Amino acid sequence: MESIKVALLGFGTVGQGTFELLVKNGDLIANRVGAPLQVTKIYVRNKAKYSHIALPEGTQFVESVEDVFTDPTIQVVVEVMGGTTFARECVEKALTLGKSVVTANKDLLAEAGPFLLDLAAKHKVDLRYEASVLGGIPIIRTLYESLAGNRITEIVGILNGTTNFILSNMTEKGAGYQEVLAEAQALGYAEADPTADVEGLDAARKLAILSSIAFNRRIFFEDVSVEGITKIDATDIAFGKEFGYTIKLLGIAKETKKGLSLNVHPSFISSDHPLASVRGSYNALYVKGNGIDDAMFYGRGAGSLPTGSSIVGDVMEVAKNIRTHHLGALQPFYFSEKNLYASGK
Ligand code: NAP
Ligand code: HSE
Repeated sequence: MESIKVALLGFGTVGQGTFELLVKNGDLIANRVGAPLQVTKIYVRNKAKYSHIALPEGTQFVESVEDVFTDPTIQVVVEVMGGTTFARECVEKALTLGKSVVTANKDLLAEAGPFLLDLAAKHKVDLRYEASVLGGIPIIRTLYESLAGNRITEIVGILNGTTNFILSNMTEKGAGYQEVLAEAQALGYAEADPTADVEGLDAARKLAILSSIAFNRRIFFEDVSVEGITKIDATDIAFGKEFGYTIKLLGIAKETKKGLSLNVHPSFISSDHPLASVRGSYNALYVKGNGIDDAMFYGRGAGSLPTGSSIVGDVMEVAKNIRTHHLGALQPFYFSEKNLYASGK
C-alpha cells in the first residue's frame, strides 16, 4: 500500500521525538491508519548540525523549505519550529497549497488560531494542534469531542512543565531557581526563550486555547490576567511548607456571575490537594462539568517523546482523513465567529 508522505519543519526536541515515534512504532501506526506514514523530508536551517543523525532510507534533510512546498507528494506538514513569524508563513503556505498541518505551536495558535482554522477549512484540509497544550496529555480532543456534551463551569490546571519542574525541585530538593531552570532547559522542557515559561505567558496561552474550547467562546491570550513565578523565593516555599501548603503555578478559568474569570498565578494549595502531587515536568487539568461532575487529566506536559506522542496521534488522524476523504470535516467549534467572547473582541 502506498505510504502517506509527511514533512517535518524543524528537528529539535519535539521534531526528533515525533520522528522517533513514527519510525519505531511504524508497523503499528500503519496498521491503525491503514497505510504507512513516511517522513520523506525534514526541513532544517543547517544540515551540518544534524550530520551525526543517520536517517532511514527515503528520508532526507532539506535546507530549503520550498523543497517541501513544491513536493506534491507531501500531504502532511508538521510544524515544530516554534515562533510566530516564519512558522506562520509556513503554516499558511502549506494550508493554501492543500497540505494538512499538525503543529505544537501554542504561541502561533493563541495569536492566529481563528484565521488559520478558517484557512484550513477554506482549503478543505486539517489543522491539528493537540501537542500545543499539556504535551503528552490528550486534552484538546477530549474537550472538544468526548466532553462536548457538558456545560463546563471550571477548569484548573498546572499548564507549564518548566515552572512545575522548577517549583517542585525548589520545594523538594531546596534547589536554586537558576540552577533548576538550566536543568529544565537542558531536558528540553523550556521554550527557546524561557521568559514565556517563567513569566506565566506560556500557561496563559494554553489557558486561552483550553478555555476557548471548554467554554465555547473565543478567548484571547490578552483576556488572561498573568503572574509568573519569578518572584517566588525560598522563603515563600518554606512559609508554605510550614503551614502544609505547596506553591504551584495554576491556570484557572471559572464561570462567575460577572462572566468568565481567567487567571494564571502562583497559588498556595494544600499539600493533600490532588494538584499538589503533580511534580516535575508533569501537568494536570481538573475539569468540572454538568455531566461528568469532575475529572482530572494528568501526564507529562513537556518533553520530546510525550509531545511527539500528541503530534503522531494528530498525524494519524489526518492520515485517516486523507484515506477516507474526510479532510477538513472536523474543525474545532470554538473559533466560530458567531461565538465571540463577551469582551467584544
Ligand atoms: P527546539 O528544540 O528549539 O527545536 C526547534 C527546531 O526548529 C530546531 O531544529 C530549529 O533549528 C528549528 N527552527 C527554529 N526556527 C527555525 C527557522 N526559522 N527555520 C528553520 N528551522 C527553524 O524547540 P522544541 O522544544 O522542539 O519546540 C518546537 C515547538 O513545539 C515550539 O512551538 C514549542 O512551543 C512547542 N512545544 C514544545 C514542547 C517541549 O516540550 N519542548 C512541548 C509542547 C510544545 P536550529 O537547530 O537551526 O535552531
Ligand atoms: N515550555 C513548555 C512547558 C513546553 O514547559 O510546558 C510544553 O508546552
